[in-house]
This record gives sequence, structure tokens and C-alpha cells, in this order.
Amino acid sequence: MVEVLDYDIVIIGSGLAGLRAAIEAARVGQGKLKIAIIAKNQLMRAHSISAEGGSAAVLYKDEGDSFDLHAYDTIKGSDYLADQDIVEFFVRQCPIDVLELEHWGLPWARRDDGRVAQRPFGGHSYPRATFASDRTGFYEIHALYDTLLKYGNVDKYNEQFAVDFLIDNGKFRGVVAIDVASGEIRIFKARAGIIATGGLGRLYGYTTYSHLVTGDGLAIALRRGMELKDIEFVQFHPTGLVPSGILITEGVRGDGGILKNANGERFMEKYAPTKKDLAPRDIVSRSMMTEILQGRGFKGPNGLDYLLLDFSPIGAEKIKEKLSQVREIGIHYVGIDPVESPLPVRPSAHYTMGGINVNSTGFTGIEGLWAAGETSCLSVHGANRLGANSTSECVVFGKVTGGEAAKWLLKNPKGVELMEGDRKHAEDIVAEMHNQKGDNDPYEIKRQLWTIMDRDAYVFRNEEGLTRALKEIRELEQKSRNIFIKETGNVYNQNLIGAFEMRNLVELAEVVVAGALERRESRGSHFRTDYPKRDDDNFLKHTIARKVDGKITISYIPVKLTKWKPEPRVY
Ligand code: FUM
Repeated sequence: MVEVLDYDIVIIGSGLAGLRAAIEAARVGQGKLKIAIIAKNQLMRAHSISAEGGSAAVLYKDEGDSFDLHAYDTIKGSDYLADQDIVEFFVRQCPIDVLELEHWGLPWARRDDGRVAQRPFGGHSYPRATFASDRTGFYEIHALYDTLLKYGNVDKYNEQFAVDFLIDNGKFRGVVAIDVASGEIRIFKARAGIIATGGLGRLYGYTTYSHLVTGDGLAIALRRGMELKDIEFVQFHPTGLVPSGILITEGVRGDGGILKNANGERFMEKYAPTKKDLAPRDIVSRSMMTEILQGRGFKGPNGLDYLLLDFSPIGAEKIKEKLSQVREIGIHYVGIDPVESPLPVRPSAHYTMGGINVNSTGFTGIEGLWAAGETSCLSVHGANRLGANSTSECVVFGKVTGGEAAKWLLKNPKGVELMEGDRKHAEDIVAEMHNQKGDNDPYEIKRQLWTIMDRDAYVFRNEEGLTRALKEIRELEQKSRNIFIKETGNVYNQNLIGAFEMRNLVELAEVVVAGALERRESRGSHFRTDYPKRDDDNFLKHTIARKVDGKITISYIPVKLTKWKPEPRVY
């Protein structure tokens, strides 16, 4: 049985981008559009809720910040792979959309003079990370959710796992999902869709991402013939807590914390003499791994050798006020109170710079379909994102896509019909997985994938490792077609959902590694030890990956430069 639900817009994903898109679609639609927002678990529990440190915005031009400075920092931080026209739009929009959140109830931290406070963040040449303690994502999600409640025409669906998009003749017609609680199959029929399903971080075992982030929207897009852009660029956040990988915010270093090696040295002085611990993440992560590989780290469990993040320059009072969550994380997960002792840290997979190739309004090229947030690649972040730019991107482009979808629907008010075979197609996708009675344990495949990615597609990469990874991932791909689903029931069948997630991850791993193998240079987060220099002559271009007849094809498109010429990145 397939239940069909009829909407004008379906928003897939309820993180910052999805919620912001829903609000804008509802606002622009003025009650004339029926909107559904579907979440993989609960609407208030999307991974955005774990964003800690802040949202970038130019608020103090009177004190020396400027749009050009924010744009330049972002572009230099991106290792010149960002499209400069979109960055210029983005930085101008950030203050409007970040301050709007305050009008919706977000309690931004304050300076003593009562104005909104901002903290320094890596690669920014002005302290422009607007923050709410170290729980920025938590407060942002709440402000957006509360605002969404004002609109009566938005239906909210928890625990809907998307397995496919209905697309025919270049037109979007809806989403096929499993209602996780009942196991029933649903088609959310809609003329417009906004994909906001986040990144692909759970490709890695050691990561700041929650287990939710399995690249579902990206994998469906790939299977549906859409283009993924720059997907080889995965950000490793310098301070993942060892051994779990949980995020310890860059706000710690923004507020004065420093990284130390096993000799007690503040080693970042050597690698980035001006910015030191607040260099961009790609540079700090590489420096950390260099220290560790050269024997100046501490021995950690399961090969997770680490360095120390020393909070002492911040002082106990400020730690308790501005960094209370990471303090709790330290105490709870490793039994260390950072007020008293440093935390063990190491670079942890944190962000997907690439995503679905979209234009400047988030349009995917499929009629009626947009993408926003980490799922999309507008090329704001290029080869390396600056901290605090992603939560801002989500609100800026969530709003853009929600508005665009609503305007388009108001101009094109006809409905959409199911096609013959849609119901059967939806049933077949789920039945194929349900009926798997093969040899391989999907959880074991996922563990093997983590081992491969953590080993060969981490901070340092090279031809030998990437070639081995590609071969092993293709073997896992084969195995993933011959698995067993232990749980046979329908209600909360997490084995079934986990198997879909595993396949999504394996498919995406192939794209990450294939793109990394072809990019024979080092740029931003992608560092090839066998090609250690940036090569603008051959690789100042975006990677475009597609799946054609089951095979990944790689091509390239130019980067859009406006006024900033590529220069060496010195910090
Ligand atoms: O370190 C952090 O708080 C992370 C922020 C970000 O990824 O933008």
C-alpha cells in the first residue's frame, strides 16, 4: 500500500536550510500554497542543532569590518575555488538574515554596551561570528521552528526517510519516503521540492557529524542523473574530541584557546605566524597532522593520535559563560573538565564543501526542484569553508530557495498528477531492500567504508591510497547489493533504514574518491602529498560528477572570478 499526500511544495530536511525555506515559502505563498516539510527523525533534531560556534555576518562596518573584507576572507579561505559573484551576494545578505533571527527570538550574545557580540573565527580578519554561547545551532533551530509555527499551511512530518524523487522529462513531481514509525510507503506529490538533507559526513568513522548525516539527498540526486559538484572537498575540523570525534568549537580558539603538541609547544606559530591557531581549518588540520606524523603527538586509542587544546588562556569564568556546552562535552565524554586540563583533539570530518550543482538561486536544473544548505553547492565555500559561514549560508539560501519555489508556483498554479507506475515504483524500491536475503551485513559494510575513508581520503591523500580506496569501495558497492536485513517487521525497522543509508554512503564515497584521484593538485581541504602545490593552470575549475549507466563520469567547469585574483595563501 502506498499513501499519496498532495502538496504544492515538499521540503526534504528540517535543518536550518529546510526550516528557513519552509518559512519563506509560507510567507511568499500567503496561505495559497500547501507545504510539507519532512524530517528524517524529529524536526527539531536535524544535525544543524549541533552547530556550536557562530554565524558569520558583517555587523560593524563602523568599526572596520566590510563586505569586501568578508568576501575576500571567504574567497582566500576557499583557496580561490569559490565563485566570487555568489560570495559577494552572500556576504551582503548575511547581516540581514542573521539579524532577522534575533527578531524571531534568538538570544544572540551581547557586548557590555548591549549591542550584538561577535567572536573571532578561523580565517576571518575581523571577529564576525555572531553567537549564542556555544549552542548557536540549537538556538537557531528553535527560533526558526517557533517562527514556522506561525504559518498554518505547513504540515510537519517527523521520521520520513526519503528513498527517491519522482522526476520525469526534467520535471519534479514528488518524493517517495518510508514512514519509519509504521513502515508504510508514502508519496509526497508536489510540483516543487527543496532538497535540504545536509552533507555526507558519515562516510567517515571519525567525524563531528551525527549518525543522521548519510548523504541521502545527494545520493538520490546522483542516481537521478543530477550533477554533484566539488564533492572531493571534505572539511576536517581541527578539534574533534578524541576518541569520538565530537565537535569542540573553533570558538574555543576564537576566545583564546591554543593548540599544543606533546612537547608543550604552540606549534601553529610555525605554520601560520600571523593567524596562528585561527588560520583556516584546512591549514590548521594539516599542521596538526604534520605534528602527529612527525612524532610530536600523543598516542591515542585505535590509532587516533592526538594533540591538546588548552583552554587556560580563556579563564574559568569565560569558559563557563561562553563555552559551557563544550565544557560539558569534555566532562561527559572524556572525564576532563577543560577549566582544569586540556582536551585531546584531532582533525575530524566536519563539512561537505561540494554538493548538488545549483545556480545562484539554488535551482537544480530540474523543473520545480531546488537545493539549499550543505546539500547544495553554490560555490560559496570552494575548496575550504571558513567557520561560521555555513549556518549563515543555510539561512541566506534557505530563504532564497523557499521564496523562489513559492514565486514559481504562484505563477504556474497547475497541479501535478501521479504517473502510471509511480506507486509500483515506490513499492519496488522498498521491497527490493526488504527482501534482501544475501550474505553481507550492511553494518559491517559501513564499518569497512569508514576504515577506507579514514585511512585514504583524510587530511593527506595520494594516488596510491586513493586508487586502493576506489577499488575497495567498488568491491563494497558489489557487496552492498547482496546483504541481509535482520529485522523483518515494518515498525521502526532501523535495519532497513540503515541499509538504505549504507548504500547511499557507499555510492557517494566512490564520487568523493574518484574526484580526489582526478584532482592532481592540492587546494584547500584536498591535499595530495604527490601533488603538494595548488595548480591554477590546470585545476582552477570545479569538478562535476555524474553517474551515467552506473559509472561515475568527471568533467570540469570554470570558476567565476570577479575582482580577487588567486594569490598564495599566507596567514
Ligand atoms: O567550530 C565550530 O563551532 C564550527 C562551526 C562551523 O563549522 O561553522
